[in-house]
Amino acid sequence: MQLRYLGHAAAHLTVGGAAIYVDPFLTGNPLAPPGAADLPCDFVLLSHYHSDHLGDTVELAKRNQATVLTTNEIALELQSQGVQAVGMHIGGHKDFPFGHLKLVLAQHGSGISGGLAAGFVVGSEGKKVYFAGDTALYSDMKLLRQLWGPIDLALLPIGSHYTMDAKDAQVAVEWIDPTYVIPIHYDTFPAIEADGEAFKRAVESTGRSHVVLLAPGATFDL
Ligand code: NI
Ligand code: MN
Repeated sequence: MQLRYLGHAAAHLTVGGAAIYVDPFLTGNPLAPPGAADLPCDFVLLSHYHSDHLGDTVELAKRNQATVLTTNEIALELQSQGVQAVGMHIGGHKDFPFGHLKLVLAQHGSGISGGLAAGFVVGSEGKKVYFAGDTALYSDMKLLRQLWGPIDLALLPIGSHYTMDAKDAQVAVEWIDPTYVIPIHYDTFPAIEADGEAFKRAVESTGRSHVVLLAPGATFDL
């Protein structure tokens, strides 16, 4: 599978023959690379309804006749806007054409009344990728590998202010023990400035995980 980083918490995943945007905040994202909204799109994974994650979801889904996978209350809101959406919920999992998707906890607001924010684990091609979404550190992150086996790649926020910071993310890495880590949700705005290089040094000096610092537009093959 190939992951293309689109800046902030946005990514584009090519896996299992499908093209998947994750939290496609592109318009108005100062880090989004040129053409970020023009990639193929079969599905959108939407962790929550805050504008820096919802982003271009509605426009992308409508233009590409793509399906949005998210929590139930957010799916209902999107459906009311004419978007095709599947409403799942925390702890639930389901097979899709691209692989297996599980929704996991994210300790964060959802941006919609009565809703919940989520993280995602995508299992496909024998690999597992954890998209943490916006979240604080929480100890049930330990369950990811206990229940699901090794995580190959984890995308974790490090920007603080709205999510865990780099220090907490380092603890998350110890608990999740992924082979690769991509730090996200930092340096987009002054409020979430963080030192990715320092995070990389700290993580790689203490454990087996490798930190991959992706410039927006760059890809990582797993
Ligand atoms: Ni948020
Ligand atoms: Mn956010």
